Amino acid sequence: MFNGLKKLEYRGYDSWGIAFKEDSEIKIIKKAGRIEDFREKLPAKSHFAIGHTRWATHGSVTEENAHPHLSNNKNIAVIHNGIIENYAELKEFLIKNGYKFISQTDTEVIPNLIQYNMKNNNFEDAVKNTLKKLEGSFAIAAISRDSENIAAARRMSPMVLGISKDGFFISSDVPAFLEHTNQIISLDDNEMVIINDKIKIINFMDNREIKKEPETINLDFKESKKGKFQHYIIKEISEQEESIKRAIDQDPDFIKEIANQIENAFGVFFVACGTSYHACLSASYLFSKIAKKHINVVIASEFRNYRHFLTENTLVVAVSQSGETADVLDAVRAAKEKHSRIISIVNVPGSSLTKLSNEVIMMNAGQEVSVLSTKSYTSQLAILSLLAYASIGEFEKGIGLIKKAASYVDEIISKNLNKLENLAEMLKNKKDIFLIGRSLGFPTALEGALKIKEVSYIHAEGLAGGELKHGTLALVEKGVPVIVVSTDETKKDILNNALEIKARGGYIIGFNSENNDVYDYFIKIPLLENMEPIISIIPIQILAYYLAVKRGCDPDKPRNLAKSVTVK
Ligand code: M6R
Repeated sequence: MFNGLKKLEYRGYDSWGIAFKEDSEIKIIKKAGRIEDFREKLPAKSHFAIGHTRWATHGSVTEENAHPHLSNNKNIAVIHNGIIENYAELKEFLIKNGYKFISQTDTEVIPNLIQYNMKNNNFEDAVKNTLKKLEGSFAIAAISRDSENIAAARRMSPMVLGISKDGFFISSDVPAFLEHTNQIISLDDNEMVIINDKIKIINFMDNREIKKEPETINLDFKESKKGKFQHYIIKEISEQEESIKRAIDQDPDFIKEIANQIENAFGVFFVACGTSYHACLSASYLFSKIAKKHINVVIASEFRNYRHFLTENTLVVAVSQSGETADVLDAVRAAKEKHSRIISIVNVPGSSLTKLSNEVIMMNAGQEVSVLSTKSYTSQLAILSLLAYASIGEFEKGIGLIKKAASYVDEIISKNLNKLENLAEMLKNKKDIFLIGRSLGFPTALEGALKIKEVSYIHAEGLAGGELKHGTLALVEKGVPVIVVSTDETKKDILNNALEIKARGGYIIGFNSENNDVYDYFIKIPLLENMEPIISIIPIQILAYYLAVKRGCDPDKPRNLAKSVTVK
């Protein structure tokens, strides 16, 4: 259980908890904080248990809000991922029926509703009747003091069943049990499984029994180890020469075919969140510049609001490292409702997004453990750049340019490591850091700001260079650091922006192919035809890392975040 929960911490690490049966009672151990701090508190052995590691949605990070949650009579324990949208209504109903609540979570209505439904039903039927009443997204597992079964079910939240000769596992993702078995059954929406010494899968909405054969999961996506590195993030940053090359090691005909679809679609949307969104934005500049193709780039959580434009001739390219980001999955579902075609660019094999897509380009970046996307970003940029070149019949040229960019990775890291550490030392106590760029430098500025803020907790803001004078310049005063990401073609204009900042006392850090008098600090980025985004983000990733280390922040697990954001 400990190993399984550790492996699921990328879903959230605010609190953890387990429930198991002992002496005909349900026992719960749960704590706020990360599970490693409490290893000794876990029971040595139990063959019947459920466990959870939480990313808080409803209710703060406290022991009461940690899962599992117990029913009032303490007979039923439930763990839950997702959001129960009608929990307030259900809670009111239960309160009217005499139930009391001790947490602020939406989840606590579930064990209590099961208890309520057990008045006239056995455990399995009570769970089924409860599930029918839930609105929203959920993957739940429940145990009862009075039953030898574990009941688990899902809707719009991932859940897989592991089948080994020693028993069954149910989890929101396969890494939790991969050390025990690679035989899995994926549950689909509205499916429930009853587990004892065998399994029974039913659709809980219409009671249909469902037969599913186990599939063998690909073990190539191996668990990554830190090795000689102190943190995963710096290991993953250092791996980028190889991961970029792997990203473009694709079947040329397949890439050309996808590029052709992008070229000929009537409306193309690139859809993603966070770092993956920045990769899409960067690619849209490239498609505009070299393929003269307009791409609509939309943040996934906003995509539903564009559904009015979607038709069966629309092409949606969904980009996601995890393939489990709820906002991305929701965007894709919205597009599918309009019969649009879905292509995805994904790193995690077998993830939910791969199953919703017509075609999938695998990023092949290998497991990314740090919550910060680093190598997956450059892999996404590499694939999207290749698609842009392939769409104008220049696949080979694209390959050549991207390989050249990859070949600079090690050099840029080794030449600048000390300079970046010194820079971090100088900036570590700053309140704000601004990053500006134009054209292909703009998404790099956005991505750089995201890296810095999420890991060092320093406020960082990325802007298009031209936007500064429309408001943010008001925040620049003596000593405020501004990182200027320059590309060759935007050099003149961005240097003018740098001068405007300098005139207000700003401290200018130039990321450019050549030094300039306006820069107070300079990091050299090689000149690369259209491929600067792939390479210029790397020193900013390293700067963010050093800022985190020097400020005593955890560079792999920033506070409040999760690697895979499975709620909307
Ligand atoms: O798995 P995804 O690429 O869909 O994740 C999207 C974002 O959650 C992710 O990029 C996030 O912004 C990272 N923490 C950035 O480092």
